[in-house]
Amino acid sequence: MAADSSKPSVLIFGGLNTCSRALASFLVPLHSDPLVSYLRIVDKYSVHPPTTLEIPIVEYRQANLTVPAAIQAAFDPPEGNTAFDYVFDFTGEVRNDRSETIQINTTFAVSRLLALEASKRQVKSYVRIQQPFYETSAKNAASEKDDIKPVEAMGIWWHETLRMLASIEGLNLVILRIGFVYGPYTDFGNVISAITVASVYGYMQKPMKSMWSPGKNPTNTIHVEDVAGGAWACANWVANHGRKKADELAGVPIPFHNDKTKVKEVEGMLPHDEKPVAPIFNLVDDSNSTLVSTGQIVSSFFGTTFEFFNLIESTVFKLLDDLEDINEHHVEGWTEMLSKSVPPITNTPISAYMDKYTLEKHVVGFDNSKIKQIVGYKLLRPDFNHANIKEVVDKWKAEGAWPNIPST
Ligand SMILES: *[C@@H]1O[C@H](CO)[C@@H](O)[C@H](O)[C@H]1NC(C)=O
Ligand SMILES: *[C@@H]1O[C@H](CO)[C@@H](O)[C@H](O)[C@H]1NC(C)=O
Repeated sequence: MAADSSKPSVLIFGGLNTCSRALASFLVPLHSDPLVSYLRIVDKYSVHPPTTLEIPIVEYRQANLTVPAAIQAAFDPPEGNTAFDYVFDFTGEVRNDRSETIQINTTFAVSRLLALEASKRQVKSYVRIQQPFYETSAKNAASEKDDIKPVEAMGIWWHETLRMLASIEGLNLVILRIGFVYGPYTDFGNVISAITVASVYGYMQKPMKSMWSPGKNPTNTIHVEDVAGGAWACANWVANHGRKKADELAGVPIPFHNDKTKVKEVEGMLPHDEKPVAPIFNLVDDSNSTLVSTGQIVSSFFGTTFEFFNLIESTVFKLLDDLEDINEHHVEGWTEMLSKSVPPITNTPISAYMDKYTLEKHVVGFDNSKIKQIVGYKLLRPDFNHANIKEVVDKWKAEGAWPNIPST
C-alpha cells in the first residue's frame, strides 16, 4: 500500500495504559479515511493488538524506551517512507506508588531521550501530554499563566519534564495539560475508579460516601476522545506555526518546583533560576466537574446516592489512614459482582481498589478557553454525563470486562 504523502506520518510513544489507543483510533478510524499516512506506536508493553493495529498503515512496536538505541531505531521510517512528521509523547509513570528514582527514569529521562531525538530529526510537531498532577486554587480555574503546584514526587517529575522539554533547542513542542481523563478502554485514573466504586455501591444498594467535605473542589474531567482530538489539533497548529511563532502566540514560562540539589544529580535538568518558555494549553471539558458533581453523576447512574461521612467518621478514617480498611468493602463487592456476572468474569483490567492518590483530596480546576481561542479546538464531548458513562460501561461489557448482572 503506497503511503499518502499529503498526510503526516506519526509516531506515538507510550500511553498504551492511558490515552494512546484512543489517539490511534482517532487517527485511523475504522469507518472513514485515516488522517495519517503511517502510524507507529512504540511502548514498553506487549499488547494484544487492538483492532486498529490490524490495519496496514499501523505498526506496533515493543521497545525499552530507556535505551537510546531503541529510541533511535523507533524514529527510523519504514523502508520507502519519508521521515516521521509528528511525534506524540504520551510516556510517563502514572503510578504514584513508584519510587522517585523510577519517576525520574521513566518520566523525565524517557521523555528527554525522545525529545532530543525528535529535535535532531526536526519533526514538525512534538505533543506532550501532561497529566493533572497539580493542586490549583479551589476558587478560580487556573489559566496556563498561573503558577500551580505539582503534587508529590510523581507530579514534581512530570512538571520538571516540561521544563526540560521547553529548553530543547529547535523542538516544535506543544504541551497539552489535561484534566482527569475517562472514556472507553481507559482503565487508569480517578474517574474509572469512581465509576467502578459507584457501581459497587449501586449493587449493594448503599449510598456512596466521600471522606472529603462537600466543598466545591474542582476535579475537572476530560473525555479520552478529546485528549486525542486536542492532541491532533495542537500537532497541526504547531506544525503550521513552528516553535518560535507558537511561543509568541501561546508561550508561558514554566517555573521551578523541585529540590535545587537535584539539578546536579539529574542529567538534563535545568537550573532553578531558568524559566524556559513553551506553548501550553489546558484541556478539560465544559462541565466544571467537582468532587460533588462527579460523585453525584456516577452514583445516580448506578441508582444510588452520593453522601459524605460525618466529621467523626471521616476523622477516624483519616487517622486510620489504612488503605486496606477503606478498600475492603469496594473490593469485596466488586469481586462478588464479577463472580455473579453472566457469564462470570475471571479477568478484568478494572479494579475497585483505590490507591493512595485516588483516595486523597484533589483540587484541579483548569480554564479551557485558551485552546478554544488560539487553536480553535471544539470539544467533542463537552459534558461529563450519564450517556458518556454508559458508553464506557457498555464497551467494557462487550469486552467481557464489566459484570453483567441480571436484574431481579
Ligand atoms: C530497559 O533497559 C534498562 C537499561 O538498560 C534496564 O535496566 C531495564 O531492565 C530494561 N527493562 C526491560 C523491561 O527490559
Ligand atoms: C535509573 O537510571 C540510572 C541512570 O541511567 C541508573 O543508574 C539506575 O540504575 C536507574 N534506576 C532504576 C531504579 O531504574
